[in-house]
Amino acid sequence: MAADKITIFDTTLRDGEQSPGCSMNTSEKLEVARALVELGVDVIEAGFPIASPGDFEAVQQIAREFGDRAVICGLARCRKDDVDRAWQALQDAPQKRIHVFLATSSIHREHKLKMDKAQIVKTAVDMVRRAVDYCPDVEFSPEDAARTEPDFLCEVVEKTIQAGATTVNIPDTVGYAVPSHFKHVIEHLKKNVSNIKQAVISCHCHDDLGLAVANSLAAVEAGARQVECTVNGLGERAGNAALEEIVMALKTRHDYYRCQTSINTKKLYPTSHLVSNITGMKVQRNKAIVGQNAFAHEAGIHQHGILQDVLTYEIMKPQDVGFVGTNLVLGKHSGRHAFRGRVTLLGYELDDETFQKVFDDFIDLADKKKEIYDQDIVALIENRTDETPDRWRLVSCHATAGPGTIPTATVELTGDDGKVHRDAATGGGPIEAVLHALERVIGISASLENLQIRSVSKGKDALGEVSVEVLVDGRTYRGNGVSVDIIEGSALAYLKALNKAEADRQRHQAATRPEPKETQRA
Ligand code: KIV
Ligand code: ZN
Repeated sequence: MAADKITIFDTTLRDGEQSPGCSMNTSEKLEVARALVELGVDVIEAGFPIASPGDFEAVQQIAREFGDRAVICGLARCRKDDVDRAWQALQDAPQKRIHVFLATSSIHREHKLKMDKAQIVKTAVDMVRRAVDYCPDVEFSPEDAARTEPDFLCEVVEKTIQAGATTVNIPDTVGYAVPSHFKHVIEHLKKNVSNIKQAVISCHCHDDLGLAVANSLAAVEAGARQVECTVNGLGERAGNAALEEIVMALKTRHDYYRCQTSINTKKLYPTSHLVSNITGMKVQRNKAIVGQNAFAHEAGIHQHGILQDVLTYEIMKPQDVGFVGTNLVLGKHSGRHAFRGRVTLLGYELDDETFQKVFDDFIDLADKKKEIYDQDIVALIENRTDETPDRWRLVSCHATAGPGTIPTATVELTGDDGKVHRDAATGGGPIEAVLHALERVIGISASLENLQIRSVSKGKDALGEVSVEVLVDGRTYRGNGVSVDIIEGSALAYLKALNKAEADRQRHQAATRPEPKETQRA
């Protein structure tokens, strides 16, 4: 019997992006959208177009650039302006979907919306019809469905399908459901909604009780054929169901679910890494599928078993999810050819120019570090594939510190005028001194919200990855820097974030600059 296809609806760029500390700018969203397309997701919920001009622009650009490779979806409340705005953002995409939602549970009806059941049904039906007038692919979500009275949920679902919804998504908005309960919710809909076969049943589970993935799989068991999820489980509060966990559970337990997805699982680990780098949300070490320990076997008894037969303790192969371990790979004498082969094996396709830069970085690193691990190579690649154009580049950075001294730093940067600019500053320690010196050269003041340093691989000579989050003019910017020297890594990370802030400032100034008189008259 042919396996049923499960549609993977990714909402990293909408529900994920909505969660505190995860906001992304348009170019970061485009980078994530590209990775999602390459991962093979079927639907990308690219944002909530009415929320802000930035959200609108991002959905529109994603729709234009990737709408031929995935369905691009925009979210709308049950308001005319929301639906119209979603359509405006999506209209250029060859494949598009409007996602309309309205809360249906009694607690939301009474306290948030102050609407009775009849008003809810009418509003939902009217807005689904409005969306259908624009676009045949329309999804409706009764928000807080898991806490909605079952018979009222059936009524809303039936009427919105009648109005033209082609997907009905059942959200557990507050992560209240447990698997057997949620399975029952879907079964109840299948049994009691007369036209249920005319729509795809979807699920959207939050992780407040740590059950989002289990609940989603229970929904699949009951007949849901779309799962809404996010990379690394990002999302409101405790997050959404993690895409990588859903996909690997369906693949590994195909014997049980008999379902398949179109995800290229070898891209799961690189995509997780990219999203983590862009959002600054680190993946916990023991996270299923994509955590650093996900395939590590420490206990002697496990290692013994694995050596006899990997199936004793390993239910998935690390290569199947594109996992990058610490395999010792290359050193100073490894040639260009071997390096290119390793880059390809790690799942990256680099153009010639980027490859050359990464290879030069590798040669520099090989001078400082004897053994280069796959994780080092990934860090070098990601460092070079960050697409923000940099106005300021680090030429040199020198810091002195120690007991009885005043920590002092000097930095030299090249600006986009091609000249070298230099300055010096002091601080409580060498890193603070460097950050002050960078601000002095650029002429910008930023507050540092977070700085984390971690070693990319093992050994005292390991590459250090520094991630910073800074606030400039009320907006958050993130930057990463990698180096064997954590002072230089901190300088690179801070500079990356300041370059992003500078680019925004320039864009803002260009947008508010009065037009020249001749143009104004024309
Ligand atoms: O959690 C939720 O209910 C949502 C809806 C908009 C689908 O995110
Ligand atoms: Zn949600």
